[in-house]
Amino acid sequence: MKILVIGSTGQVARALLRQAGAHDVIAVGRPQIDLANPTGLADIVGQVAPDAIINAAAYTAVDQAEDEFDAARALNETGPAALARVAEARRLPFLHISTDYVFNGLGGAPYAETADTAPLNVYGQTKADGEKAVMNINPAALIVRTSWVYASEGNNFVRTMLRLGADRDQLNVVEDQIGRPTEAHSLADALLSLAEQMRGGASGGLLHVANSGEASWRDLAEAATSGAGMTTQINGIPTSAYPTRARRPGDTRLDLSKARNEYGIVLPDWQASLQTFLEMMGVSGRRA
Ligand SMILES: NC(=O)c1ccc[n+]([C@@H]2O[C@H](COP(=O)([O-])OP(=O)(O)OC[C@H]3O[C@@H](n4cnc5c(N)ncnc54)[C@H](OP(=O)(O)O)[C@@H]3O)[C@@H](O)[C@H]2O)c1
Repeated sequence: MKILVIGSTGQVARALLRQAGAHDVIAVGRPQIDLANPTGLADIVGQVAPDAIINAAAYTAVDQAEDEFDAARALNETGPAALARVAEARRLPFLHISTDYVFNGLGGAPYAETADTAPLNVYGQTKADGEKAVMNINPAALIVRTSWVYASEGNNFVRTMLRLGADRDQLNVVEDQIGRPTEAHSLADALLSLAEQMRGGASGGLLHVANSGEASWRDLAEAATSGAGMTTQINGIPTSAYPTRARRPGDTRLDLSKARNEYGIVLPDWQASLQTFLEMMGVSGRRA
């Protein structure tokens, strides 16, 4: 199956390329495709002639987005809407990736796909608007919300903790935000399976896909550094002690039952995926 991935350098785009297996995954990013200026999209799709499209491109700088609403909206709403239109016109399965940050984190329980969105920041707002735009234009599209993504490249929390943990005896990390950390390769496997299922006629809509289990940022930092053999002390701090430009939701655990029951998608527990990741990075040093 030939799958066109929009975005080529991002965490998820690279993981899709690596996990392609028997699929022909073609990732196209800038300059060939600029989602902020999507006039040439139909031509690229025509040239590649894919069996499905996965949009892995987005404006993902959560804090910076507070000062760049228009740029975030162009990438997270207008661009995906244009892609959804091209896919719809060609009757191509279209998977669009969204985020747990569409929620305000105050629900007190894992969020089902049916839960109302109420983003706290510009990034989450533009992603929520993008979801609605995609669904309106292309009701057959599958919108996959995921959370706390990390990979071996790019700016992500796990890499930051491994870098800081190598230099410092102690780290202060927020412990009152919880969610489901998700390793990019396990997410990519699920996306490829979903693309195949969509081609086979599976229905679209909203879907939550993440590694199972739950963690705070402190838990994730602790597991990453100790898993890499570091003895760094990880101190839990409240969100109030770590002010950021954008507000973050407190509890964005995604309910994963629809993915399991309707699509047979079950990702490993986050700790197992983290361990695999550390081994892949060559830094696994956990002592028995
Ligand atoms: N990272 C997370 O923790 C997280 C959590 C939940 C959901 N998500 C969602 O998962 C998806 C993938 O995220 P990620 O972590 O892989 O993001 P990422 O590493 O920040 O990559 C962003 C991608 O967007 C592309 N891009 C940026 N500007 C573009 C433009 N004008 N035109 C075309 N492409 C452009 C980049 O490609 P170039 O710059 O090379 O062009 C890159 O491939 C996104 O939808 C994101 O919202 C991420």
